[in-house]
Amino acid sequence: MNSPKHILLIIGGGIAAYKSSELIRLIKKSGMTVRCVLTESGAQFVTPMTLAALSENEVHTTLWSLKDETEMGHIQLSREADLVVVCPATANLLAKMAGGIADDLATTLLLATDTQVLAVPAMNLRMWNHPATQRNIEQLRRDGIIVMQPDEGDMACGEFGPGRLPEPPAVLAEIMNHVIGENIVGPNPLEGQPAFAPDQHRPLHGKHVLVTAGPTREPIDPVRYIANRSSGRQGFAIAAAAADAGAQVTLVAGPVHLPTPTGVMRVDVETALEMEAAVHDALPADVAIMVAAVADWRADTRADQKIKKQKGDAPAPLKLTENPDILAGLAKHSQRPGLLIGFAAETQKIDEHARAKLTKKGCDWIIANDVSGDVMGGAENSVHIVTADGTEIWARLPKPEVARRLVAKIVEEI
Ligand code: CTP
Repeated sequence: MNSPKHILLIIGGGIAAYKSSELIRLIKKSGMTVRCVLTESGAQFVTPMTLAALSENEVHTTLWSLKDETEMGHIQLSREADLVVVCPATANLLAKMAGGIADDLATTLLLATDTQVLAVPAMNLRMWNHPATQRNIEQLRRDGIIVMQPDEGDMACGEFGPGRLPEPPAVLAEIMNHVIGENIVGPNPLEGQPAFAPDQHRPLHGKHVLVTAGPTREPIDPVRYIANRSSGRQGFAIAAAAADAGAQVTLVAGPVHLPTPTGVMRVDVETALEMEAAVHDALPADVAIMVAAVADWRADTRADQKIKKQKGDAPAPLKLTENPDILAGLAKHSQRPGLLIGFAAETQKIDEHARAKLTKKGCDWIIANDVSGDVMGGAENSVHIVTADGTEIWARLPKPEVARRLVAKIVEEI
């Protein structure tokens, strides 16, 4: 049997801290162990006694515990974990993390750790929407920290909007995405539980959204391939935003090293032909967003053995064959999605080329991006939305924000 995975759970000070009890229960039920660190303000909402009883482990609250330091140094606490989860992550805690501040046990551990960190934000919607918080989140994501998208709904403060802590089953699903994979020990604790609270505003509930993302990789021989610089980040962010809006999402992903967004069904593929087959298998869909940078050509034949250099000879010419156009094929398919969206990577005459693609490929919208700079593989995107009605030009934005706005536009459309 696989050895159980260890979670270090840091509980910040917000009303949502009470949900940490349920999260601990689910983590334990899934066969993982959990050790808690409670911040001073977190202790205003839950007691160390509750957490100790549920986690069946000692709860750590201070940097200055002689007993803890002699038995287990605080650095060790995070080193022995497979994942550090900050839940709830308050605006204050996120700001300290983004700024590298270490002034208590939780923030010191977070600065000292080289273990993957998952932050689950919860705060008032105005705090969430504040540019400072959004800036901190972008920074944290750039630093490699996974920041979950908060839920939208009624808040403890009486307001309605984004900022609510995602429900514990959704947090557990995210944890399992990162640490467990197929190594689940014990029964699936999510079975029969809805991943989202039923009272939330989920405008795409009941809709199937199909997204392609990342590059394709076209083999030449067993060691070489044709590929491109696509990171998959924009497509993954769109899949995540569609899932947040309540859609059932199928994400057909080329070879990228990105975590699967919460609630998204992912199908990994390598070549354009595999991507085409996976897209057809996923039909019917209400909306398809083809973000993948599909290789236009593949090697005519794939050599079974590594192609060797021939001394004195010029390199053998590489014969290429055109790949099928997956987007154009979907436009003509008998099960064409009601809203079909293509992307266009352009380095010049962006609108002109995008409009030509709209007609040529038979899709409803083209999201054109200027990839002449650092967009491909970068954290931000600058897009033009080209439709039959005209062109909208959006400012340069972080890719998750482009995704959220695009999903909002889709909601409006359908
Ligand atoms: N696309 C596709 N199948 C292909 C090539 C592209 O489905 N074989 C899709 C992409 O996912 C994207 C759109 O078509 O949604 C436009 O991709 P892009 O690479 O910009 O266009 P190309 O058709 O490759 O045109 P060109 O390289 O000439 O600009």
